[in-house]
Amino acid sequence: MKFFIDTANLDQIKEAQELGILDGVTTNPSLMAKEGITGHDNILKHYVDICEIVDGDVSAEVIATDFEGIVKEGEALAELHPQIVVKVPMIKDGVKAIKYFSDQGIKTNCTLVFSLGQALLAAKAGATYVSPFIGRLDDISTDGLGLIADIREVYDNYGFETQILAASVRHAMHVIECAKLGSDVMTGPLSSIVGLLKHPLTDIGLEKFLADYKKGN
Ligand code: E4P
Repeated sequence: MKFFIDTANLDQIKEAQELGILDGVTTNPSLMAKEGITGHDNILKHYVDICEIVDGDVSAEVIATDFEGIVKEGEALAELHPQIVVKVPMIKDGVKAIKYFSDQGIKTNCTLVFSLGQALLAAKAGATYVSPFIGRLDDISTDGLGLIADIREVYDNYGFETQILAASVRHAMHVIECAKLGSDVMTGPLSSIVGLLKHPLTDIGLEKFLADYKKGN
């Protein structure tokens, strides 16, 4: 399973990259705003800065919601850096644009996906990634992980190559469950990745090993 970090914070991206397990980054307009990145040129520069830190795919989201606007914006984003993946919302013109980008060989991430029908459309349009938002579904008492399982089943039924990118991951257990369900990718905050490290028996065991070493030296 690929690990993406869901942030526009350069320090956190560097920390995950230095851990040696990072496969990519996802961003969205809210995450950019959270880091105080505003203005067209600053936003574009920030995407390039992120690409220079990581080796993998970096999702950059379009703001336009009409076909021509999405295509124009997406092509400009894709020109920025070879690692850019154009993030397109699951709306009618978005689906048309994903098909267009797919025909042009431009990678896409279909975002704001909350149902199996939407995931099916994204795959039919040729999206590189589909992003079901599992945390936001859980927030409204709907089974986010169940959606991952359903998409896996349907994509496998028909051999769709669109990669399932479990998004809106909130914690380490989401990551583990997504791995069990066969999600291709997960994207979440640094805490959801670093949370996988922790086990009290590891800490207790290490403390004892070091204490025993000291006794003999
Ligand atoms: C996906 O690419 C989105 O950026 C993201 O995962 C949304 O997560 P949130 O629900 O924590 O905002």
